[in-house]
Amino acid sequence: MTKKYLITSALTYINGVPHIGHLAGAMLNADFYARFLRAKGEDVLFVGGTDVHGTKIEVGAAQEGLSLKDYITKYHEEHRKVYEGFELSFDAFGNTDSEQNKEMTWRIYEGLNKNGYISEKITKQAYCEDDKQFLADSQVGGTCPYCGYEKAKGDQCENCTKLLEPEELKNPYSTISGSHNIIFKDTKNLYIDMDKMQSHLESWVESKKGLWPDIAYTTAKKWLKEGLQARGITRDLKNGFSVPREGYEDKVFYVWFDAPIGYIGITKEWADKDPVNRHWEDWWQDPENVVHTEFMGKDNIPFHSIFFPGMLYGSGENWTQVSFLKGTSWLNFAGGKISKSEHRGVFLDDALAEFPADYWRYWILANSPESDDAVFSFENFTATINKDLNDVLGNFINRVTKMTVKDFGTNVPALGEITEAEKELYATLDTLIKQYTDHMEALEIRKALADLREIWVSGNNYIAKTEPWKAVKTDKARAGTILNTGLNLIRLFALLSSPVMPAKAQEILALFGKNKQVVWPEEKAEVLLQALKEGDSFVAPELLFQKITPERKEELKVKYKEGV
Ligand code: 2FM
Ligand code: ZN
Repeated sequence: MTKKYLITSALTYINGVPHIGHLAGAMLNADFYARFLRAKGEDVLFVGGTDVHGTKIEVGAAQEGLSLKDYITKYHEEHRKVYEGFELSFDAFGNTDSEQNKEMTWRIYEGLNKNGYISEKITKQAYCEDDKQFLADSQVGGTCPYCGYEKAKGDQCENCTKLLEPEELKNPYSTISGSHNIIFKDTKNLYIDMDKMQSHLESWVESKKGLWPDIAYTTAKKWLKEGLQARGITRDLKNGFSVPREGYEDKVFYVWFDAPIGYIGITKEWADKDPVNRHWEDWWQDPENVVHTEFMGKDNIPFHSIFFPGMLYGSGENWTQVSFLKGTSWLNFAGGKISKSEHRGVFLDDALAEFPADYWRYWILANSPESDDAVFSFENFTATINKDLNDVLGNFINRVTKMTVKDFGTNVPALGEITEAEKELYATLDTLIKQYTDHMEALEIRKALADLREIWVSGNNYIAKTEPWKAVKTDKARAGTILNTGLNLIRLFALLSSPVMPAKAQEILALFGKNKQVVWPEEKAEVLLQALKEGDSFVAPELLFQKITPERKEELKVKYKEGV
């Protein structure tokens, strides 16, 4: 049976507008991969959406005076819209609050309970005497006992990624009021006994050595080395799924319990819309035939490499587990910490208002913070857009189409005798396209984008070497052959660029008529460069890309507070 490719990207919390760092960490990489696999003819299901439970959302709704339901609907829709603007091609998009997700959450909880992985503990929970309320873990701030970071939260230290319990923090305070008047009161909660899964997860993670990117494997190993502990899965909150157990009527499941199950819930919601043709089990309960690739930022790695796999394993069903975990570092902003209220950094709604989505997609993928943090600056963005998209790709397309129109009209000229120059081009392309495809398959994103740029450069080199503007004066048939090859290169570049810049790729393919279908080029370059035949019509494009002027760059730097 042929493999199916299940792709999931981390579900973003709906409080706050996502910024380019979110795109770089998960969604864009996932979309790039999904588009590549679809073009190769693979069976793909790309699942994404929003995370709508937990404290942050409860606090956000209270601040806006909205009911939880209205707040969720409003912001889920905002997120959906900007993702659509960035051409993220989710097959199934939803949020974690659906009936289907509740059903899956209860099902997994019940499996864990039946198999002896759930226990009940009475613990102390942070209570702020000044705020007069229990504080959720993430509402408690303090000093991380492991690395000394002073702004750690009671659920996780964002500096060292260690998962924490609030009691472990030194010098705890309320993040609501800043008060240090914190006591810990008794409360009863359910726990998942991760310690009982230690040896299973150890050998499972070990089997990923050399397969997962280093950042994912080492984070999982580090967590295992410290020894797994029971982890709370219920909370004294309102925003979340109810817990099917006596004595838990006033509590809900912990947001990180039902969030990853959300991938399954969203798949089921999608399948329920067309029950004859879609079956969630084909994706989630077929580990032999499904390759599951997860995309996320580095803070999410522990949950996806240990916690979620443990939940699925302990529930006793034959779930599809993650095959490849693509975790990334951060994309930071040159101007400092990204903040909506301080208008610093580039949020996705603003980004779309400034430039076409494909400019951003190209820059972010080319600078993907894969193993190390990367920095976005308008300085660098301007240089990349002007050079790669305008001088290299755009200029090639303009020159070839304009020269052809001038000397041959709007039909593809004949391909005459193949010379050494064409043979050299074929050989270069065969090597580069293979390299590009291999890097995409391995999800080496920066390397893949460097290959793509090299592919475009090979077109410019070919034209510079063959000089059709000279040939046309002495040997028109030869000029026709060069421009025939040039036009075919344009079409090929569009196909190869389509996972990166889907809209621009469609615009370019449209120059050659109606067949805009993206099929991954797998033949030899010699064959690929004969797809357009003598006499086929084409149109010369208006300007496909536009340069960013120095004045505009300076305006953007001020507007988004880069270095000012
Ligand atoms: O860190 C976050 O933004 C989480 N909302 C990610 C959840 S991913 C999945 F588990 F839903
Ligand atoms: Zn720490």
